[in-house]
Amino acid sequence: MLENSVFIGGGGEDYGTPQGLRLDYANRHGLVAGATGTGKTVTLQILAEGFSAAGVPVFLSDVKGDLSGLAAAGSETFKLHDAFTSRAEKIGFDSYSYDAFPVTFWDLLGEQGHPVRTTVAEMGPLLLARLMELSEAQEGILNIAFRLADEEGLPLLDLKDLQALLVWLGENRTELSLRYGNISVSSIGAIQRRLLVLENQGGSNLFGEPALELSDIMATDADGRGRINILAADKLMGSPRLYATFLLWLLSELFEELPEVGDPDKPRLVFFFDEAHLLFDDAPKALIDKVEQVARLIRSKGVGVYFITQNPADVPEDILGQLGNRVQHALRAFTAKDRRALKLAAETYRENPRFSTEEAIREVGVGEAVTSMLERKGIPGVVERTLIRPPSSQLGPLDTALRRKHIATSPIAGKYEALLDRESAYEILKKRAEEAAAEAARVEEQEDEMPMAQREFNAARRYSGARVSRSSSRNTLRVKADDTYGEALTKMVVKELSGTTGRRIVRGILGGLFKGR
Ligand SMILES: Nc1ncnc2c1ncn2[C@@H]1O[C@H](COP(=O)(O)OP(=O)(O)OP(=O)(O)O)[C@@H](O)[C@H]1O
Ligand SMILES: [Mg+2]
Repeated sequence: MLENSVFIGGGGEDYGTPQGLRLDYANRHGLVAGATGTGKTVTLQILAEGFSAAGVPVFLSDVKGDLSGLAAAGSETFKLHDAFTSRAEKIGFDSYSYDAFPVTFWDLLGEQGHPVRTTVAEMGPLLLARLMELSEAQEGILNIAFRLADEEGLPLLDLKDLQALLVWLGENRTELSLRYGNISVSSIGAIQRRLLVLENQGGSNLFGEPALELSDIMATDADGRGRINILAADKLMGSPRLYATFLLWLLSELFEELPEVGDPDKPRLVFFFDEAHLLFDDAPKALIDKVEQVARLIRSKGVGVYFITQNPADVPEDILGQLGNRVQHALRAFTAKDRRALKLAAETYRENPRFSTEEAIREVGVGEAVTSMLERKGIPGVVERTLIRPPSSQLGPLDTALRRKHIATSPIAGKYEALLDRESAYEILKKRAEEAAAEAARVEEQEDEMPMAQREFNAARRYSGARVSRSSSRNTLRVKADDTYGEALTKMVVKELSGTTGRRIVRGILGGLFKGR
């Protein structure tokens, strides 16, 4: 219908002029906006269909579960069949037919799709801090924890690893504070509590291995059509932070992993970010800057990012300015605030002499939109009133049994289903603790064989004065011990003290880990 474009609908006087989104500018990002019930989800559906048909893989989140219908063809017995065909006629969409698309289902919870995981290390301290809503001070400590994990060779895979590392950090905080600055117990405690909250929100499902391989979402099927990756997000929306942070992680991962391709003929992947306001709601400036930066740079990796939101005002200006392809469904104009937002939204378009953009945004019907796509040289086209094309795939959710079948027979079935728990920070620290415990037990046994006088002395030593780090404690003790009991005794004292330290570590790690479980 349109060469090298995704057909989106008909514009012009009688909706008869085909409107398309050029594939070579599809990596210049986009926006789908509009009040509830105005047609955003169907627009997302037809865009996904169009990209897939053009061989471009798509990633999208399914917030209400109604996009799973992409996996099935529409039907002539469907109640909207007549509405769809007459709409197709009106816009001159002669080749309109029903069709199913290659879909891969994903689910952070592993119920409605293949599990999708990443590791704590890959998520990184910045996003984790955001995920756990940490304060600046707490984020600082998380940064130290990550650095230490690196230095100590402790892989951070799942939340258990992070938990164990925090306990270890707490245990050694006196020494570590000298090196890294103050590490307060209360901050560590606060992070641990946030970690529990994250676990309760389903965060433990997200972290672990096997971690998602990007090639699995950038796949095409045997016919060369792009796979449409659908992330089940209905339950996930109950934890908006988790949802937004996960998508942001996926974006930054794409950005970091993919090679530069400049401006390709068509994108390598198109990424739809539904309920995008969740990403920006009370986000710190640093995070918005990062999103802005990722959006700007990911273009040259051939990834197009499309934000879907009710009101374009939800998207920070710097980011909005980068969204070249726009489908603006109707906006409400009930309150003065609504009208200001509408006016602002209208001002960002190239005026069409045929109509007022502001009025059009207020008036367009359901499944109709004010559109502006990038044209030659990447210049935004004049605004059009476009009747969006009807979908070829099924409108509304896929039947549950069919969905199960899809997941079971997908090309990656079985690859991610079983959780892998290889040796990482938790296991390593636990092993260290067990070794220390064994050593402590050995020393204790020896202690039992000691004469009474020496045992009393040892017991007294335990409570005398400030703790000193192990290396310096030997010297201090030796001097003092020499004054009183002599060389032989000193050796015992030093051993005993090492034993105490050992026990202290054990209590710390195991006690901290099992508390609250
Ligand atoms: N392009 C279209 N072709 C045919 N029908 C459409 C189209 N767009 C919307 N509709 C009709 O309008 C209904 C509502 O559209 P849609 O679900 O996309 O709205 P929405 O903006 O996503 O709403 P919400 O904010 O509630 O999710 C659809 O179920 C469909 O019946
Ligand atoms: Mg919707």
